[in-house]
Amino acid sequence: MEWPNSRNESTGPVLLDCQTIRNRISELGSQIAGDYQGKTPHLVAVLKGASIFHADLVRAMELPLSFDFIAVGSYGTLGKSSGEVRILKDLEDDLEGKDVLLVEDIVDTGLTLHSLVRNLKERKPQSLKIVALLNKPAGRKIDVPVDYIGFDIPDAFVVGYGLDFDQRYRNLPDIHILRFGK
Ligand code: IMP
Ligand code: MG
Repeated sequence: MEWPNSRNESTGPVLLDCQTIRNRISELGSQIAGDYQGKTPHLVAVLKGASIFHADLVRAMELPLSFDFIAVGSYGTLGKSSGEVRILKDLEDDLEGKDVLLVEDIVDTGLTLHSLVRNLKERKPQSLKIVALLNKPAGRKIDVPVDYIGFDIPDAFVVGYGLDFDQRYRNLPDIHILRFGK
């Protein structure tokens, strides 16, 4: 979706409350841990949005794992994703031979994820899967296969549980729809 520029925003209704999120992450954690039995997945969480989801997800996965963080930015201006990601903070660890699970907060157009996946594949992981807490199917501009999805949501701008508008609202425990205008 187009990112709104308004500064007159306020938090609207709760779309997903923290208990609903917790329950779904518990299910996802079990499912993913089952799929990775006998392996030691290496999670790559995308800063900053996925940090809170990641912190809860790893504690719902009962198996040995490791993790690392990457921060990316878009080359486009606010509201228009160019589709080319810029690495703002790179990984510390090599991915070669690892079973990598990329942890994203939300997939909207898919452009960020598409570009990031291409970048990570060049590092020759053994396997690469994607988990996203939120998915906005209506916003998709490019097809990216997301292996695990927490929730499909409508094409609204949401904040909380790590997701921001202009770097704010990340600390809200629930996920809210953001309202714009007075
Ligand atoms: P995409 O490239 O359009 O798929 O956008 C992905 C990135 O845009 C996500 O990682 C988020 O950082 C951001 N984003 C997309 N939709 C929202 C939203 O509703 N709230 C907050 N951030 C969003
Ligand atoms: Mg973001």
